[in-house]
Amino acid sequence: MLQLDLTETHEMIRDTARDFAQNEVAPSAIHRDINAEFPYEIVKKLGELGFMGMMVSPDWGGAGLDAMSYVVAMEEISKVDASVGVIMSVNNSLVCWSLETYGTDDQKERFLRPLATGEKLGAYCLSEPEAGSDATQQRTTAVRNDDGTWTINGTKNWITNGLTADVYLVYAQTDKEKGYKGISCFIVEKGTPGFTHGVKEDKLGIRSSDTCSLQFQDVVVPQENMLGPEGRGFNIAMETLNGGRIGIAAQALGIAQGAFEAATNYAKERKAFGKPISNLQAIQFKLADMATKIAAARALVHRAASTKDKHERYVREAAMAKLYASKIAVEVTLEAIQVHGGYGYVREYKVERYLRDAKITEIYEGTSEIQHIVIAREILRDAS
Ligand code: CAA
Repeated sequence: MLQLDLTETHEMIRDTARDFAQNEVAPSAIHRDINAEFPYEIVKKLGELGFMGMMVSPDWGGAGLDAMSYVVAMEEISKVDASVGVIMSVNNSLVCWSLETYGTDDQKERFLRPLATGEKLGAYCLSEPEAGSDATQQRTTAVRNDDGTWTINGTKNWITNGLTADVYLVYAQTDKEKGYKGISCFIVEKGTPGFTHGVKEDKLGIRSSDTCSLQFQDVVVPQENMLGPEGRGFNIAMETLNGGRIGIAAQALGIAQGAFEAATNYAKERKAFGKPISNLQAIQFKLADMATKIAAARALVHRAASTKDKHERYVREAAMAKLYASKIAVEVTLEAIQVHGGYGYVREYKVERYLRDAKITEIYEGTSEIQHIVIAREILRDAS
């Protein structure tokens, strides 16, 4: 397995994540997928392991690890259950990262600390019914009241952890005239009057993570709940997604690796024409292609994480890692089904779940089409 820049600490984290994934996450993954059941106990234990606030400073209750540690753990968790992977990814890279980077000490104490320890769960609320890829088109509004509080109205869509989260980062238009420079970010707590959620989406994959729409009807939040400066919300959203995309790339990598291992094991056991099918060149070539794609994806994911760890600009690296890892995750999971033949088409053999889970990685946190735009803009930016 090709791995770049892994230290002893990274290997230790990988082994811890692998043990936890195999022993605690894997046994019930099919059941949770069929029943669309949220993994409450697992998320609680991930918090105890320090995996819900991996990159957060210990000063705020986090594990104080680097992005490489995070992607190594994400790969291992997603290898057995990508639903658990996305719950962990949203909390770590979208919510904790934003709060630590832009929050005041008071916000960090009140919101970041319980999120980093896993006591609470976070959600990131950017997408709307009419603002998906074109994220600048926010229709949710926040209007300042005479007493300095803000009133939020609008709807958010496709919110991961939408039902289960306690702390929501909500982007809203605070000055329509200014377009995206008039968007601000607010921290909204579960239970705030006027804040409700829609029904849980019945999804193709990542079924045990919950996704729903959110409604804000005259939801009042204090000025202290604004994250970062007024009018900088869109920049915060984009900066946050750069890191999020590394997490999703690692999730896609884990899905591909899981499907590949299942296909390899099956090929060694399954006999046809008097010998294991792994002796057939048709199967060997598939395994070789799958392994090569995974190695290339892992190199991109690790490069993105190490660029972030070096505090260099990582916009392009993150987008490339997500674009490629999500693409090969779909390809590899499809091939894993082909290696399994008819058995790959039934739930018991789990590779069909890998395919269903892989598809979303080409859609959320920026579709593959958006990643192409981001990469092209970075290339042209550097060339000018
Ligand atoms: N990093 C940092 N800043 C960025 C950025 C990036 N990757 N992309 C854009 N920006 C900044 C620009 O620098 C610009 O700011 P300034 O004027 O201050 O310099 C501002 O954002 C506007 O950028 P553009 O002029 O490039 O805007 P655009 O409309 O032409 O393109 C876009 C923007 C790249 C298409 C952006 O809208 C985008 O990324 N869309 C995809 C949205 C997305 O990923 N949504 C995911 C939903 S969240 C989710 O899935 C979470 C979940 O629950 C799993």
